[in-house]
Amino acid sequence: MSDTYTINGKTISRSEHKYLLVDRRELGRRIDEILQQPDTATLKQHTLSLKTVLEGAATDSEAPDGDFPLLKLKPLMQEIGQILDAHTYERARYYVQRLKKGIAEAKTSAVNDINLRRWKDYDEIVTDSLWTIDRRDGSGAHLGWYWGNYIPQIPHQLILRYTKQGELVVDPFLGSGTTLIECRRLGRHGIGVDLNPNTVERARGLIEGEANPHQVVTQATAGDSRTVDFAALIRDSGHEAVDLYLMHPPYHDIIRFSENENDLSNANGTDRFLQMFGEILDNTLPLLRKGRYVGIVIGDKYSQGEWIPLGFHCLQEAQNRGLLLKSIIVKNFDQTKGKRNQKQLWRYRALAGGFYVFKHEYIFILRKD
Ligand SMILES: C[S@@+](CC[C@H](N)C(=O)[O-])C[C@H]1O[C@@H](n2cnc3c(N)ncnc32)[C@H](O)[C@@H]1O
Repeated sequence: MSDTYTINGKTISRSEHKYLLVDRRELGRRIDEILQQPDTATLKQHTLSLKTVLEGAATDSEAPDGDFPLLKLKPLMQEIGQILDAHTYERARYYVQRLKKGIAEAKTSAVNDINLRRWKDYDEIVTDSLWTIDRRDGSGAHLGWYWGNYIPQIPHQLILRYTKQGELVVDPFLGSGTTLIECRRLGRHGIGVDLNPNTVERARGLIEGEANPHQVVTQATAGDSRTVDFAALIRDSGHEAVDLYLMHPPYHDIIRFSENENDLSNANGTDRFLQMFGEILDNTLPLLRKGRYVGIVIGDKYSQGEWIPLGFHCLQEAQNRGLLLKSIIVKNFDQTKGKRNQKQLWRYRALAGGFYVFKHEYIFILRKD
């Protein structure tokens, strides 16, 4: 399956991202050496040999453990290219100084590993509130078999923005395990719970089939997230608290996930659905660290000719519990499995019925303060 997709028109290829496993002090020493060169020719000669060393140190690993996080090969090579292309000694030295400053020490926030001194490196991380993604990332164990799953790009983006390596992500609506597969790839520990034991069983197999280069622990458990003892799950996995919750509940009864009466997709009416969702928030939020984030992914629904803003209702439940709203992301949504004639039917219905066909869902970003 393809690992290439576009996000807001930008092409992203996961296998193209190469990272560097290098010793920061050693790198700094080599850059100082370049700065000591008395003329353009020797300065460029030393830069060229650094380039060769760095290319040799590149790895495919997504987020290597190292002295500084996520140092990407491609942008670094571009900066080195600028030094090599410089026309004057002063210009070349200026680029070397800039390179030195960018890698000398990482400047990260308390919630992620994004090195703000090299913020231009992160072109795959979206910062706009409108996400248009053309297709799901089908690389690795992401098979997309589960009707009602979310695309891996959602946990990918949120995990990179809101966690550091080695931290803990919890998903109380695990489904096919998309979140935990991403956890493995990005070096975060993960706990996932889903009501349906068969789904959990299949998810487990896939999660364990994904490579685990960072040796993280990913654990999938069957249970009702309204009552499951999350504190015990977290403790048993060697953690004290949760660093990020990712929640992708059923969009009420749009897809019925089981016959189980504890399943949110079987809730009798919107109020009951929201009550059950609220019970899951009550059972999970106390374990979230202060200052850390919750991502809620949800779409709306129609019922008897009326648009039910399920997303905003769920958001309200979260805000009622004191979470601070940080962003509302609107993401395009296409029923790729839908048949063309079904699409035409919906278009006809929309024209006749005075409504618009759903083409988006929400990702709410909230913070516990
Ligand atoms: C929209 S799906 C999540 C899909 C998941 N993000 C993925 O990529 O595969 C919602 C999931 O919530 C689960 N679910 C429903 N009620 C639940 C409950 N009370 N406790 C735990 N899981 C529940 C369903 O079994 C379903 O797998």
